[in-house]
Amino acid sequence: MCEYRITGGRPLAGRLTVQGAKNSVLPILAATVLAEGESVIHNCPRLTDVSATLGILRLLGCRVAQEGSTIRVDASTLERNCVPDRLMGELRSSVTFLGALLSRCGGAELAYPGGCQLGPRPIDLHLKALRLLGAQVLEEGGRLICRSRGEMRGQELCLSIPSVGATENAMLAAVGCRGVTTIVGAAQEPEIEDLQAFLRAMGAEIEGAGSPMIRIFGGKPLHPAEHRVIGDRMAAATYLCAVGAAGGCVALSGVEPSHLTAVLSVLEEAGADIHTGDGSISMACAAPLCGVRPVRTAPHPGFPTDAQAPLMAAFSCGTGTTMFVENMFLSRYGHVGELARMGADIQVDGRVAVVTGRRLHGAAVRGSDLRGAAALVVAALAARGESQVSGVEYILRGYENLDSDLAALGAQIQLV
Ligand code: EPU
Repeated sequence: MCEYRITGGRPLAGRLTVQGAKNSVLPILAATVLAEGESVIHNCPRLTDVSATLGILRLLGCRVAQEGSTIRVDASTLERNCVPDRLMGELRSSVTFLGALLSRCGGAELAYPGGCQLGPRPIDLHLKALRLLGAQVLEEGGRLICRSRGEMRGQELCLSIPSVGATENAMLAAVGCRGVTTIVGAAQEPEIEDLQAFLRAMGAEIEGAGSPMIRIFGGKPLHPAEHRVIGDRMAAATYLCAVGAAGGCVALSGVEPSHLTAVLSVLEEAGADIHTGDGSISMACAAPLCGVRPVRTAPHPGFPTDAQAPLMAAFSCGTGTTMFVENMFLSRYGHVGELARMGADIQVDGRVAVVTGRRLHGAAVRGSDLRGAAALVVAALAARGESQVSGVEYILRGYENLDSDLAALGAQIQLV
């Protein structure tokens, strides 16, 4: 069992290149099965979620090679369209194989996806979209059996929630349908734009990603492609929150500032000095963050739910009071009880958490989801004395080098 030992109270300073985006690379790897031949994906972070996705691709019969941050997937040898339960359960994004395999093979059989426990995470919108495109979806013994009933045809799909995963699945399925598919109420996250860029590189005709309406002119012949994944805005947000908590200054490269507008504006309001450039963000924080207007999580371009926990950690060791409202997931305050062990003053009532900043002290704490575990690291960097943060396995799902990156900025952090 691993844990981080962190001695807090040291300001952070230096430069970091941000890893490639976890939530981009996963659906893009699923999309490689759409065409025969070898696709090459650059800027892939080394994460356990990426390894699990490569495991699925290998099991489907694809040839996979990973060298540094480049992954090659040759889907010419694809020979199966069934994914075993164990692999499906390792991550949430495994569900995007449904749309991709349906497009390539006309069918897919897989279990419900796993992922961090953040409250109910249904996939009804994914299945509704696939059914409207002409797929028959049966649910038998916890497995989903999905087959195209004759030729799948483009349709207008209206998503009642701008779900990231449902938008991705609909895009992946629609490129294989004849005719035009319009996704109305689509998710607008940068990772959706990145998926569109990869699908276009494969020869798909698709437009509108980044807006609420995406149009796919399906049935075009697809070929393998080369693509560079965007920088990870959530890893960047976590490093900025770490500087907000511990103080200091950091220059991040490899991340697009416009992907983080909502996060940067809260940090600025809290007193951070932020400068952005082409693919870079620098932030200096001389004093503890001070309380700001309520932070309400919302679909992009609103404040991202994935940055809620790290930001809450930074405010819990700042000054003043800040209210958080978690609108995206029912149960995303798993870090609150652990922050309280470090002395944090956070009152939770349903979706609302009210944080009053104070000096934290080191403690033994346990993360129970990816961003919640990262939040505990952020708090430990500012706390007086030593903390032991366990739940490292969650962090390794989404952060390539959290401990060595923070150590390079001057943090006293060790993985033991
Ligand atoms: N929802 C439904 N029905 C559906 C799909 C979603 O009710 O069929 C609801 C969910 O229960 C949730 C909301 O819609 O309340 C938003 O869910 P969404 O589908 O957008 O999320 P996701 O695709 O499961 C992705 C990221 C999450 C991120 C969310 C929101 C990946 C692999 N995961 O999840 O990232 O929090 O979008 O931005 O892309 C993380 O990286 O730590 C993480 C959890």
